Amino acid sequence: MSSNFYLTTPLYYVNGEPHIGHAYTTILADVLTRYHRLFGEREVHFLTGLDEHGQKVSQAAAENSKTPQEHCDEMAVLWKDVWEKLSIAYDDFIRTTEPRHEKVVMDFLNRIYEKDDVYVKKYEGWYSVYEERYFTEKDLVDGKDPISGRPVEKREETNYFFRMSKYQEWLIDYYEKNPDSVIPKFRLNEVKGFLRQPLGDLCISRPKSRLEWGIPIPWDDDYVTYVWFDALINYYSATLKPPKGKTVTWPADLHLIAKDILTTHAVYWPIMLHAAGYEPPKQIFAHGWWLDKDAAKMSKSEGNVIRPLDLADKFGADTFRYYVMREMTAGQDANFSIDGFVKRINSDLANDLGNLYSRLAKLYHQFSWGKYKQSGSKQDNFEGKLTEQLNAVRDKVKNEIEAIRPHKAIEEIMALVRELNRYIEHWEPWKSAKIKPEATGYAMLEAIDCLDWVAELLAPIMPERMKLLRQWIKNDVHIPLKGLHLFPRIDLSELQIDEQNGNDAVNHGGSTVSDEISIEDFKHLDIRVGLVIEAKKIKGADRLLSLKVDIGNEVRQIVAGIAKSYNPEDLKGKRVIVLVNLKPVKLRGALSQGMVLAAVSGKDIVLLTTDGNVEIGVEVS
Ligand code: MSP
Repeated sequence: MSSNFYLTTPLYYVNGEPHIGHAYTTILADVLTRYHRLFGEREVHFLTGLDEHGQKVSQAAAENSKTPQEHCDEMAVLWKDVWEKLSIAYDDFIRTTEPRHEKVVMDFLNRIYEKDDVYVKKYEGWYSVYEERYFTEKDLVDGKDPISGRPVEKREETNYFFRMSKYQEWLIDYYEKNPDSVIPKFRLNEVKGFLRQPLGDLCISRPKSRLEWGIPIPWDDDYVTYVWFDALINYYSATLKPPKGKTVTWPADLHLIAKDILTTHAVYWPIMLHAAGYEPPKQIFAHGWWLDKDAAKMSKSEGNVIRPLDLADKFGADTFRYYVMREMTAGQDANFSIDGFVKRINSDLANDLGNLYSRLAKLYHQFSWGKYKQSGSKQDNFEGKLTEQLNAVRDKVKNEIEAIRPHKAIEEIMALVRELNRYIEHWEPWKSAKIKPEATGYAMLEAIDCLDWVAELLAPIMPERMKLLRQWIKNDVHIPLKGLHLFPRIDLSELQIDEQNGNDAVNHGGSTVSDEISIEDFKHLDIRVGLVIEAKKIKGADRLLSLKVDIGNEVRQIVAGIAKSYNPEDLKGKRVIVLVNLKPVKLRGALSQGMVLAAVSGKDIVLLTTDGNVEIGVEVS
């Protein structure tokens, strides 16, 4: 029986919007899906979705003055929209509030209840609202939740418990016999270490008096199901009612998760399945975290704060996908930085790959190499090794993808790109086309064939642009892509425009509350009332205006990203609020010596001013 390759992401909580961590796992799943399709031994089925029950979601809804269902419905639209922007082509999107899931959870509960694997008990413990689970006294670190470091509260409740401990030996034995079922290997060791301690039973209910937002416990109206017990079952329930035209069977081949949810996936989940009479998943891959390493650099004081997903909006999904796949050694933690993003994109994509394309495209047209295409006479300028070499790269890429090392797969392909660039440099076709036109023509057509291989192999990472590139290659007349630039160089100053908007940096855990500062911190800011004496557009920068602002004792030039909201002529004579002691930066070649403050709501920007006349240069405090 050849079922399809079934892979999943976690179901993300809908208490916030997606950030780089969620995006990474989902892009990884999409990339693996596309590679498996490319190498195609089996059909692939890719599932993602949302975890919509539980206290966190119910709290987020209350904060937004929505019912939980309204909140979830709105968030589902937002999450799907982000996935679309990132070119995520899932086969199924499951929400835990869907009837197709709720029914299966209740059946699952009934199965283990009938087997007597559930009992009722009064329990007292330390509850973390953030993690939605109880901890024992000895679990706590400095009296706080040992995972999130957040406060815990003592609670006493009567609840239903699942006899997880009964299956501890079975699971230990299972991992002995199936050592590849959790990767990387060191994660399996963590799981085994965890299983050396006695495993407690799992509290699987929440009294409705405390939390109504959940799937009812089928045999007791006063309770709903613990959110993790509900959410994990999605991977199974999605197989019973897949979208029309799709088929998928249990067990899953691969659950992609990050290390934060290893225990729930590698301990609770296989035991739950085993108790209910189903097979465990074949493999779990736990990757590391995206970290904001150089906090100072990403902090407000440096003005260097950017939401990672904004990069995808600004530079296209493909460059963002490439960056996260290339930069993280899957399994380890990785550091996100804007600098790193710009360097990576400029060197690998603008320089190596982009140049390869634009050189070939330009010369192809200049020397009309198309005429050699039909003749059928081919020379192998790679000394007979071309096909062999390309096949070897393809095999290596396949191996790396099977081992979930996309960064290595990319390295293999980019090495080929660099080799092709060397090949062209060696030929110097811009010269040799004049001396030996035919031989040069054939050699360059071969290079274009190789570029097609490259594009095919990179398409799972960058589906949009590789499609364009392949269209150019396949097109007989090779109509050049607009502007000949596949990957324009990124200019760091373009990003500084956003820095002024004060967007959030990498945000693990979905909290949107800024760090608190003291009054002393605030005193470091020199803010004054200024008067605009001149305003003009900046050539080639449609969001920027260059202002001359009188700040009392001097006139400053300030570049502001307000051109979409203000005409230069309306600004002259306006009182503005200026952050005076901001380190000067060059934006699009113009020096900016300070920042005008504005209220920013989406695309609307409204300058701050004074309520009444005050002297120019007066301090704001
Ligand atoms: N709802 C649970 C999962 C239930 S699965 C049946 C949950 N949701 S979550 O929204 O918190 O998402 C956790 C997942 O998001 C991680 O496992 C990982 O896939 C991703 N990430 C969140 N922050 C991350 C980083 N900073 N870095 C990398 N990925 C992380 O837990």
